[in-house]
Amino acid sequence: MSNASLLILPGDGIGPEVMTEVRKIIDWYGANRDLQFDVSEDLVGGAAYDTHGTPLHDDTMAKAQEVDAVLLGAVGGPKYDNLDFSVKPERGLLRLRKEMDLFANLRPAQCFDALADFSSLKKEVVSGLDIMIVRELTSGIYFGEPRGIIEEGGERVGINTQRYTESEIDRVARSAFELARRRGNKVCSMEKANVMESGILWREVVQKVHDADYADVELSHMYADAGAMQLCRYPKQFDVIVTDNLFGDILSDAAAMLTGSLGMLPSASLGAPMANGRPKALYEPVHGSAPDITGQGKANPIACILSFAMALRYSFDQGDEAARLETAIETVLANGARTPDLMGPDGGTPMSTSDMGDAIVAALDASL
Ligand code: IPM
Ligand code: MG
Repeated sequence: MSNASLLILPGDGIGPEVMTEVRKIIDWYGANRDLQFDVSEDLVGGAAYDTHGTPLHDDTMAKAQEVDAVLLGAVGGPKYDNLDFSVKPERGLLRLRKEMDLFANLRPAQCFDALADFSSLKKEVVSGLDIMIVRELTSGIYFGEPRGIIEEGGERVGINTQRYTESEIDRVARSAFELARRRGNKVCSMEKANVMESGILWREVVQKVHDADYADVELSHMYADAGAMQLCRYPKQFDVIVTDNLFGDILSDAAAMLTGSLGMLPSASLGAPMANGRPKALYEPVHGSAPDITGQGKANPIACILSFAMALRYSFDQGDEAARLETAIETVLANGARTPDLMGPDGGTPMSTSDMGDAIVAALDASL
């Protein structure tokens, strides 16, 4: 594996704690599988604001553009709630997504057997669940203009704009179809074509891409509200779901909860291929900075470790090693290893963030 460079941005809250565990995994691959990563670390979010007065320094942005993959922990926290919107921690993350043009956000919702009882849904509804949500990440209402808060008729008006070009829809649809071919070969596209013109265009373009180049993949369309309902009713009907930025934000949180714990889910945000053929890429857990448990050794590092597994698969073409890591995690869970977020109603003794990392390293050792 040539020149595998990784930029680690631990960020805020539990970000640095879970990233410490990921470093153990990266070191393990260097020592045991001859996968050497050239790792550098920098600040993002509130941590960057505290040092530089901005949630993402230009130098950090430039570094992110150069490396093979960025691994991010989490951003935000109550300390930053009253900051001006333009320097809020979240702006650092949004800038990375936008300037790296990471248009395809892959959010798997997979239910680990050992945790099927933790879901708020019945075990039989979620066991074996394996959905991939592909969320458009660089356009839509998150970035559309005009936006702002203006004065009109003696009161203030808040404005955001939903906006999608054909090419933006086309490229994310292609990502979804490509993924589906390597999984269950089914795509469900979600929008609100009954209410929004952007939804009408979305549906048309997805259908057109399908008919032209992916007719072998089964395609269906659903209104996003009905999709939310179906996710709760019978989630196993889905394989790949493709949807816009805002619907994807909401639907992926709902899908995440089906699996029992938000502390378990990774994500990959991918852009166009770079000169070396690897896609522009940023990997991060779906969970946030969890200020309520920061610094107490209670965080679950699994989502962040699984995000590194996604990096192995999508950036470094190491699908077998990614599977090794995922299996190691399944093994420790099956053996009863639990961080506090994974404690069932029957109690038991939870383990710390760092003990969970060590258990996963031990399972990796055992896999050799
Ligand atoms: C997510 C988060 C972000 C989003 C925030 C932190 C900006 O909720 O990644 O889902 O809304 O995209
Ligand atoms: Mg979200």
